[in-house]
Amino acid sequence: MTIRTILEYPDKRLTYEAEPVAKVDDEVRTLVEDMAETMYAAPGVGLAAPQIGVALRVFVIDIAGENEPSQLRAFINPEIVEKHGVVVWEEGCLSFPGVHVEIERAERVKVRALDAQGKEFELEADGLLAIALQHEYDHLDGKLMTDRVSLLKKRMIEREMRKRHASESRP
Ligand code: NI
Repeated sequence: MTIRTILEYPDKRLTYEAEPVAKVDDEVRTLVEDMAETMYAAPGVGLAAPQIGVALRVFVIDIAGENEPSQLRAFINPEIVEKHGVVVWEEGCLSFPGVHVEIERAERVKVRALDAQGKEFELEADGLLAIALQHEYDHLDGKLMTDRVSLLKKRMIEREMRKRHASESRP
């Protein structure tokens, strides 16, 4: 397993629409393993393939707390088939380190996807899992937190990210 580099906003590769996976094979399973490893190392509760520069419709989520057993799930070619209710949640993103922003999402969702064995499954979710599913799904369409907030808030996030990258490049 390899920890991959996570792309950060405003990297253009985060804005591309990802392609469906044609076949769930060993190459895809390796990608899923690398993504899980990268997510845990960050650490984060979700990671989408475009965030490591792979333009495929794959994401991983594990919302388990530090001392809870792993709830790792891989979602390949996911579809959100149902959405209910509205909730505002403070979200973060591994491509926006240090940024937290309130975003409006559906409160409950039903997702259909393939697992790492290529088997179709459905999952109904609410709470943090529902939020994570919608957030990661957005990454597959090249949509970021900055596309879900007001222009004013977007400018604030852009400024924060510029400051971060400027301080990193200083000797
Ligand atoms: Ni994200």
